[in-house]
Amino acid sequence: MIDDYWYKNATIYSLDLETFMDGNGDGVGDFRGLSARLDYLQGLGVDVIWLAPFQPTPNRDNGYDISDYYGVDHRHGTPGDFAEFMDLANDRGIKVIIDLVINHTSDQHPWFQEARKGKDNPYHDWYVWSDKKPSDAEDGIIFPGVQERTWTYDRKAQQYYFHRFYEFQPDLNVSNPAVREELHRVIGYYLALGVAGFRVDAVPFVLETQGPGKLDEAEIRFEILEDLRRFLQWHRGDAILLGEANVAPRQAKKYFGEGGGGLHMMFNFYVNQFLFHALASEDTTALREALEDTRTDLPMAQWGNFLRNHDELDLGRLTEEQRQQVFAHFGPEKDMQLYDRGIRRRLAPMLGERPRIELAYSLMFSLPGTPVMRYGDELGMGDDLSLNERDAVRTPMQWSDEANGGFSRAAEKQLVHPVIGDGAYAYPLLNVENQMRDADSLLNWTKKIVRLRKETPEIGYGEWELIETKEPAVLGLRYTFRGKVVVVFHNFSNRPIVVTLKKGPEAEANLLDLREVIELEPGEKGGHQVRLGSYGYRWFRLRKV
Ligand code: NOJ
Repeated sequence: MIDDYWYKNATIYSLDLETFMDGNGDGVGDFRGLSARLDYLQGLGVDVIWLAPFQPTPNRDNGYDISDYYGVDHRHGTPGDFAEFMDLANDRGIKVIIDLVINHTSDQHPWFQEARKGKDNPYHDWYVWSDKKPSDAEDGIIFPGVQERTWTYDRKAQQYYFHRFYEFQPDLNVSNPAVREELHRVIGYYLALGVAGFRVDAVPFVLETQGPGKLDEAEIRFEILEDLRRFLQWHRGDAILLGEANVAPRQAKKYFGEGGGGLHMMFNFYVNQFLFHALASEDTTALREALEDTRTDLPMAQWGNFLRNHDELDLGRLTEEQRQQVFAHFGPEKDMQLYDRGIRRRLAPMLGERPRIELAYSLMFSLPGTPVMRYGDELGMGDDLSLNERDAVRTPMQWSDEANGGFSRAAEKQLVHPVIGDGAYAYPLLNVENQMRDADSLLNWTKKIVRLRKETPEIGYGEWELIETKEPAVLGLRYTFRGKVVVVFHNFSNRPIVVTLKKGPEAEANLLDLREVIELEPGEKGGHQVRLGSYGYRWFRLRKV
């Protein structure tokens, strides 16, 4: 039956069509390009592609401003290209999940254009309006420094409309049954086209009660989530909802749905922030607490673990002191920071040395949950801080040392975002083609860890416990599943550490190293001394003696 929970032992790969591969030479990535790169993704060993929004859009928020839910933006191809891509991916056993952006539409969406015509228009109630300027119109801002308010006056409607995000993204009124019916239709449409689930954008904001002056007392309506879940599961039993919900750990259970009626998966934003804190401070104490705080025993629930995504590295849940520590190590310059809470850099430039990048990746693949990779991180791609806001981490995939990194045959100035052409992360040096042929490359290392994770179902399905090592710099985890036990250790410091194991099942068993031909036998009095190099990490399976 465990296959029913396929998402628990999968590796998810997130990509943005726009910057992955341009198949028709117009400078923008598209479905034809992506289809041509499916062999690469299959070779990498990923099970699931998470596709960022690809629908028609004015593209003022990287496609998260949709103007037609049932189409494909002309820059990315046709609905036929999408269907073909789905077929080719599924043929290779790769599942596809897509973004479900239902908190808001683009202001260019015909629904909003109709809604603006006034209170008599049937679409008016599809959005959230106020006759007067609400008292909290400047509160609840998500993008400080860029966004100025959450209510904006619309001259045509002669009313204010609510927008949690940018002013060109009016919030949908999901309490309206007609809106809910349409959202069901959107879900049904993509399930019919073969998607395996949805990454649900901005979940807490979809569920919150909206209205003038309501921000402070907004309540979360979990019944809306249950309704979406019911619809989804009735149409496809094994489809999943992976939620973007950066909420406090004590709320997580409700989002997973105590009765099994919520999200199957959520990104573990909480652990992500403490993971970077542990990397910066070389102390795992707070990370261990974060892991315990996010423990969940609901059978269907699974965390998605990630290092970086297409947004800023959000550090909003750390204390001021912890956040400053992470800034000091990984984003010391003002220009590297964003929205007063995060860092707009890619993984490799932040962590620098290869051993540290491996440490972070090994950790992501062995934390309780499912790993979610970001395109380009398997190569150690860099960022471009000269680009606006989060675009710094959205440069095109570097395929080869050909023009534009092999991403597109268009003229350089036509590219959707510039390719990184200078410095240590430039495409002539850092690209797929080079790393494919270099046995020691990060790409080939990543392939191995993807495979190892798949061969270690204990992690995705099993029960986990922290192993006490008495070393604050070391995180030890034990996984138990169907009588098998796996233990993993990560040393966050740059000095070698020997960990003594005296208690627990691992003290009595032989430890079979899963990455090297080594088997550790317990000492004469039992127990083990496990050596970890600087930023070292080791995975073992227990073998009874
Ligand atoms: C969350 C997405 O990850 C982000 O990129 C986007 O700007 C907001 N939602 C608004 O849709």
